[in-house]
Amino acid sequence: MKRAKSQLVAAVFLAGLSCPLLAASGCDSIAGIPITWNIDYSNDIQPIFNNRCSNCHVKSGGNPEAGLDLDPGASWDALVNAPSQEQLGRLLVVPGQPLDSVLFEKINCTTPNAGMRMPRGRTPLPLAEQALIFDWIMLGAPSTQTDAIFLDGFEARP
Ligand code: HEC
Repeated sequence: MKRAKSQLVAAVFLAGLSCPLLAASGCDSIAGIPITWNIDYSNDIQPIFNNRCSNCHVKSGGNPEAGLDLDPGASWDALVNAPSQEQLGRLLVVPGQPLDSVLFEKINCTTPNAGMRMPRGRTPLPLAEQALIFDWIMLGAPSTQTDAIFLDGFEARP
């Protein structure tokens, strides 16, 4: 009885600790989405850009917004270790560090540090797509297939 009570107190404490933080940051929680270990950039990530970002972020269609070209063949170079045009000193994708990556912040948070949430003025990405981008960055943001290895650190999933 005593143990159950202290567990309850701990649960309420933890919930109280995490929820206001999430609410304050205005970011979606992807904690409930299972981790994807095997991600292929061309087959899994690029289609998200093609379906939801492309008409604003393509060179083939004129001037890509924020200078960011998310066309197939261009997107990986434009994102990985590439500087943000909006936030000086930050990178769009920091391999292994999704929470430091402007790309993840822009698709995960209603109030990113700069500009608007992406896709701009549209419905946010489904949690499963947000999680896929998180996992891809977490697994090192490779241009090909990620290795199905276990990595510590996924407990940092927001
Ligand atoms: C309706 C047009 C539009 C759509 C659709 C759109 N964007 Fe954007 N994007 C913009 C504009 C305009 C900016 C610059 C202003 C801002 O950040 O709000 C921008 C900025 C960005 C930036 C910041 C670039 C930097 O240098 O810091 C990222 C990252 C980004 N978009 C990713 C995406 C992704 C990923 C998608 C699809 C899920 C997407 N955008 C969909 C118009 C769009």
